[in-house]
Amino acid sequence: MREVARRRTFGIISHPDAGKTTLTEKLLMFSGAIQLAGTVKGRKSGRHATSDWMDIEKQRGISVASSVMQFDYKDHVVNLLDTPGHQDFSEDTYRVLTAVDSALMVIDAAKGVEEQTLKLLNVCRMRNTPIITFVNKMDRETRDPLELLDELESVLKIQCAPVTWPIGMGKNFRGVYHILRDEIMLFTAGNDRADQEFEVLKGIDNPRLAAMFPLEIEQLKMEVELVHGASHPFDLDAFLAGTQTPVFFGSAINNFGVREILNALIEWAPAPRPRDATVRSVAPTEAPFSGFVFKIQANMDPAHRDRIAFLRVCSGHFERGMKLKHLRLNREVKVSSVVTFMASSREQVEEAFAGDIIGLPNHGNMQIGDSFSEGELLQFTGIPYFAPDFFRSVRIRNPLKIKQLHKGLQQLGEEGAVQVFKPTNNADLVLGAVGVLQFEVVASRLLNEYGVDAVFEGTSISSARWVSCDDKKIMADFQNSSAGHNLAHDAAGNLAYLATSGVNLKLTQERWPQVVFHATREHA
Ligand code: G4P
Repeated sequence: MREVARRRTFGIISHPDAGKTTLTEKLLMFSGAIQLAGTVKGRKSGRHATSDWMDIEKQRGISVASSVMQFDYKDHVVNLLDTPGHQDFSEDTYRVLTAVDSALMVIDAAKGVEEQTLKLLNVCRMRNTPIITFVNKMDRETRDPLELLDELESVLKIQCAPVTWPIGMGKNFRGVYHILRDEIMLFTAGNDRADQEFEVLKGIDNPRLAAMFPLEIEQLKMEVELVHGASHPFDLDAFLAGTQTPVFFGSAINNFGVREILNALIEWAPAPRPRDATVRSVAPTEAPFSGFVFKIQANMDPAHRDRIAFLRVCSGHFERGMKLKHLRLNREVKVSSVVTFMASSREQVEEAFAGDIIGLPNHGNMQIGDSFSEGELLQFTGIPYFAPDFFRSVRIRNPLKIKQLHKGLQQLGEEGAVQVFKPTNNADLVLGAVGVLQFEVVASRLLNEYGVDAVFEGTSISSARWVSCDDKKIMADFQNSSAGHNLAHDAAGNLAYLATSGVNLKLTQERWPQVVFHATREHA
């Protein structure tokens, strides 16, 4: 119970460039896990060019080491899961959020809520994941903080409870007022020291403040009054229920506001919570081990088809060498070479507890959503597949390789690297992804692992929805209607409607009100 209580497992959600990498680095620095900023930057270079990214993938260990970072802070064990953004945005990004207990949302103060933040927040909402908000880059010219707060509330539809409030911005950024503690933390630029302490003055009415920056303090008092009237006081229960987010302002690059975030994570964010496993709910403190796979990292060593399945421990105590039951295959596996992830390296795991992430090396027999236990039949839920936003048809240069192509896509589809749809009325294959980089990864893996030189081409498909209907007769009518031409099976055999446009989807939905069109589906 003690080990579970001191664990915090979270991910950072943000739009590219809001400062996720910078903040990650600072969190690691403040916890003492890394000495110098710059260690995490390796990931960033991979972000801009696909070729770099592939190279990074090939350098065994590097990208895995930065996908999960475990560090200690104030007698807590913190697991930070990377949610890749930008061009490497993929289904992984979404699914990682199914393995966290809380999330940190980073907002660029000049830009406010951006597209990707909204998408990721909606995924958090599926499980009511508690969210801490960090408004970054206050050292730049920003938007009006009251306006930002209003945007967060209206666009993200989440209550905001400001915990700190900025004093000025850009060149006139003076610091933040800690509303709960009635303290002012003075800002100084610079990022050279990890243990940088900022001067703290007690009380908003402190005469020193008025003497230091009279204009800004007047403004602050006015704003704080407005904030008190217009926003919500911090409420731990509302935060834990995912309906309210505490908001902090700061500047990651200047180390300012970072410690407050770490403290909020330790003090407010939840320890691992019970997980639904179909037959029952599993408490993190139960003695038998259980967990589920939420991500597969392949290409670690292409020559050996070495893959790592990332497993989130849901209960019990993992010890190296123990026997686990792979429930889908009904097979016992002895896991002796399991890896864990420290800030800058990967190491052998000796033990792990609920909330921790362990890596299981395998040769392709593990899939996303697979559950493991010490024998009990548990199938953890809430590991969704998301309806793809991008589609490609596949052509191969050498028709003799068609078998290998199908085999490769079947396996990559099962693994979750891409979604594969087989239209019911023709033999073409349609690939779907939530991020375009997935196609490049799949093309490269088809070539390297299956010897298939495939070409992906654009299609007329614009969206996909899994379909179901309680009434078998209506479902059969639907399949036999003209809409049936747009149906396809995915890798797990589920039926999906491939729409050619938003209008097409809408019209079909209107025409078939009894058929349910799902934007996500659960692991089979
Ligand atoms: P990301 O992972 O969310 O994509 O963002 P990242 O941390 O890479 O930050 C994006 C850019 O914003 C970087 O600048 C970074 O230095 C800058 N940045 C992060 N935090 C702050 C902040 O508090 N204040 C200011 N002014 N800038 C911040 P870049 O020019 O793209 O990269 P670099 O050359 O500085 O590495």
